Amino acid sequence: MVDRRSLVSLAFLFSLLFQLTFEQIEPLSSRVERAALFDLRSSLGLRSKEWPRNVDPCSLWKGVTCENGRVIGINISGFRRTRLGKLSPQFSVQGLANLTLLQSFNASNFLLPGRIPDWFGFQLSSLKVLDLRSCSVNGAIPPSLGNLTNLTSLYLSDNNLTGIIPNSLGQLLRLSVLNFSRNSITGTIPASFVSLGNLSSIDISANSLSGSIPPDIGALTRLQYLNFSSNMLMSYIPSQLGNLSSLVDLDLSFNSLTGGVPPELRGLRSLQRMILRNNMLDGPLSENLLPTLSQLQVVVLRQNNFTGDLPDVLWSLPRLSYLDLSDNNFTGILPNSSSNHSVTAEMLNISNNMFYGNLSRIIRRFNVIDLSSNYFEGKILDSMLNVSLNTNCLQNVSNQRTTGECQSFYAERGLAFDNFGRPNSTGPPATGSSRKSNRDKIILAGVLGGVGLLFILLLLLVLFLLCTRKRRNSNQRGNGVGPAPVGSSPPPPGMSINFINVGDSFTMQQLLQATGDFSDANLIKHGHSGDLFNGVLESGVPVVIKRIDVRTTKKDSYLVELDFFSKISQTRFVPLLGHCLENENEKFLVYKHMPNGDLSNSLYYRNSTSEDGTLQSLDWITRLKIAIGAAEALSYLHNECNPPFVHRDIQASSIFLDDKYEVRLGSLSEVCTQEGDSHQSKITRLLRLPQ
Ligand SMILES: *[C@@H]1O[C@H](CO)[C@@H](O)[C@H](O)[C@H]1NC(C)=O
Ligand SMILES: *[C@@H]1O[C@H](CO)[C@@H](O)[C@H](O)[C@H]1NC(C)=O
Ligand SMILES: *[C@@H]1O[C@H](CO)[C@@H](O)[C@H](O)[C@H]1NC(C)=O
Ligand SMILES: *[C@@H]1O[C@H](CO)[C@@H](O)[C@H](O)[C@H]1NC(C)=O
Ligand SMILES: *[C@@H]1O[C@H](CO)[C@@H](O)[C@H](O)[C@H]1NC(C)=O
Ligand SMILES: *[C@@H]1O[C@H](CO)[C@@H](O)[C@H](O)[C@H]1NC(C)=O
Ligand SMILES: *[C@@H]1O[C@H](CO)[C@@H](O)[C@H](O)[C@H]1NC(C)=O
Ligand SMILES: *[C@@H]1O[C@H](CO)[C@@H](O)[C@H](O)[C@H]1NC(C)=O
Ligand SMILES: *[C@@H]1O[C@H](CO)[C@@H](O)[C@H](O)[C@H]1NC(C)=O
Ligand SMILES: *[C@@H]1O[C@H](CO)[C@@H](O)[C@H](O)[C@H]1NC(C)=O
Ligand SMILES: *[C@@H]1O[C@H](CO)[C@@H](O)[C@H](O)[C@H]1NC(C)=O
Repeated sequence: MVDRRSLVSLAFLFSLLFQLTFEQIEPLSSRVERAALFDLRSSLGLRSKEWPRNVDPCSLWKGVTCENGRVIGINISGFRRTRLGKLSPQFSVQGLANLTLLQSFNASNFLLPGRIPDWFGFQLSSLKVLDLRSCSVNGAIPPSLGNLTNLTSLYLSDNNLTGIIPNSLGQLLRLSVLNFSRNSITGTIPASFVSLGNLSSIDISANSLSGSIPPDIGALTRLQYLNFSSNMLMSYIPSQLGNLSSLVDLDLSFNSLTGGVPPELRGLRSLQRMILRNNMLDGPLSENLLPTLSQLQVVVLRQNNFTGDLPDVLWSLPRLSYLDLSDNNFTGILPNSSSNHSVTAEMLNISNNMFYGNLSRIIRRFNVIDLSSNYFEGKILDSMLNVSLNTNCLQNVSNQRTTGECQSFYAERGLAFDNFGRPNSTGPPATGSSRKSNRDKIILAGVLGGVGLLFILLLLLVLFLLCTRKRRNSNQRGNGVGPAPVGSSPPPPGMSINFINVGDSFTMQQLLQATGDFSDANLIKHGHSGDLFNGVLESGVPVVIKRIDVRTTKKDSYLVELDFFSKISQTRFVPLLGHCLENENEKFLVYKHMPNGDLSNSLYYRNSTSEDGTLQSLDWITRLKIAIGAAEALSYLHNECNPPFVHRDIQASSIFLDDKYEVRLGSLSEVCTQEGDSHQSKITRLLRLPQ
């Protein structure tokens, strides 16, 4: 008994002391409010630890703020309920209705499962601050909140709110902070928001809002923070946003916005963070946009459809520290100027774009750099740490694109590619991807090429007839072309072929390396006798490699070809540089790469000096040279070779041209020595075609 009484008097003493020390705190003077506080205490299940009985709430209750003996603030943020209160927590705050001067109610992180009561809007008319963050509040935002015209801060984020944003909130003319983020609010952004002229921060991110961004938002000139990210907003970025001259943060990421970044956004002179990632924005960045945005630190445009060159000024923004442009279609080269910014920047991510050209010192400023999946060429800079360089066209770096990919990327743009620092192959990339781009011209070229071919074949016919006649005179064997002479059956494997005359012996490893593991990008075509691949030897020599699957082709056809090369002395054939016979099922023949491709390719060529990339026609003198060259080659096969050969597949695609447009006959495994008349009739038919 004594103890308890002395405890009470101790408490009284303390409260007295408190009141003496902080004289401005008057004890609660309103009975109604005292009753209201106790009502609140029990309906919320607050503990004596925070709100003890028998003491003055104004002085000793945690989170209760008073003025002149009246309650003006309640802060139960982070409080825990009594064991009983925890059993069925509810949004039960009827007591607040009698605190008629209440200016602030902060219940963040205190569970209030239930709807925001309608009467809040009618009864809490002095409220300036309402903070219900992370309270498990659900249901819709009551339209009556629009009556709380003294509200300056309204935080409802991280709850389960549903329904729409009431139009009436546009009446909250004093509102400075509005945060509804991370709920399930639907509908559109109310047009009435344009009246919230005192708004400095609006965050409605991570909801399910749809529709467009009201252009009039641009009138909220005090706005410093705007976060509309992770909704379903459509249409375009209104140019009026450029009027938000105080805006520091702009986050419109993860929506479905289309169109470009309006150049009017150059008005965002205070902007530090521009986050537009994961939309469907497109177009280039305007030159005019960036020069005025001198405060920019973070620019995130990741995963859009942006195209075009980057304005150079982007690289000289003085405060830029985080630049993520990944997953777009930006292109162009990195500017040269060394950036002499004292600030080292955190991060540069321009991966998955179409940047090309040499790396430049401009990127040195960043700590973490991701340049992967572009088309950069040349050497890397020294001392490049924390840099991701995969899938480019860089020299002496692993995991780069194939030669074919790089060549055709640069060729499509009329640019010179350094070919990984190896000697140039000046020929057009045989992958044909560059051909796709100009269908009309190709058709035209095809038609004209046909005419050219007719002319050539006509010439061939004349020469051929001349030759065979000559041969008939000199050779009594009677049959000019077809059958094999005595004793010239195909050589048995490993025999009779003089391997000294058939070039180097390559290892499988060398060939795999030369062709990027026979990648599809290096595949030229599937031929009758094997698949043809582009390749580059370690020495830098470009080659064509034929892969012959002996299981599916005639087993010794490659031997026939080797045999042929071991015997000929003529120069009118695509030179065989070597072979690789170490595998049982696959044999490889390595030929010199013909820079001017085959006849069908080179009757028309792209003139590197003409800007528009139009096709130029081969001059007639060269054409005649080609025709004579082809005739010489055929004549050699038919007349001078012993035994004579028939080229079974003579057509534009087996007549190749070296760098001086000299003819080199290719597709040589189609050459056959045997089988007689049927092939004679075939070649006659071929040659008769033009008539
Ligand atoms: C509010 O005050 C009125 C009297 O002014 C009283 O009748 C009512 O019960 C009070 N409500 C609460 C919840 O305290
Ligand atoms: C509200 O109460 C919490 C917990 O007691 C405290 O940490 C916080 O500073 C208070 N906030 C205000 C604005 O009084
Ligand atoms: C509410 O209280 C929390 C502390 O628990 C504080 O961080 C927050 O700023 C307060 N809300 C307002 C609007 O002052
Ligand atoms: C709103 O605030 C103003 C001044 O801040 C005050 O004069 C007025 O009484 C308040 N309105 C209500 C309903 O409390
Ligand atoms: C409060 O808001 C409701 C609906 O928003 C409106 O009908 C009513 O007139 C308002 N009351 C006051 C006192 O402003
Ligand atoms: C901003 O709030 C003040 C009161 O704090 C008010 O007088 C003024 O009209 C508001 N401004 C706008 C543009 O609504
Ligand atoms: C915008 O809101 C999203 C989700 O609420 C958040 O992750 C993001 O950090 C916010 N953006 C800025 C710039 O604060
Ligand atoms: C980039 O452009 C290519 C065609 O040039 C297109 O196939 C691709 O989808 C585009 N990528 C993006 C992210 O827009
Ligand atoms: C750069 O962006 C790509 C694609 O957006 C991403 O996969 C990659 O992780 C990013 N790189 C770094 C270093 O963050
Ligand atoms: C960059 O500078 C080098 C020499 O310093 C020069 O060869 C190159 O052409 C320049 N590139 C550009 C894009 O200005
Ligand atoms: C390849 O040719 C281009 C011009 O077509 C030239 O700029 C480049 O230096 C050449 N590269 C090599 C390795 O010869």
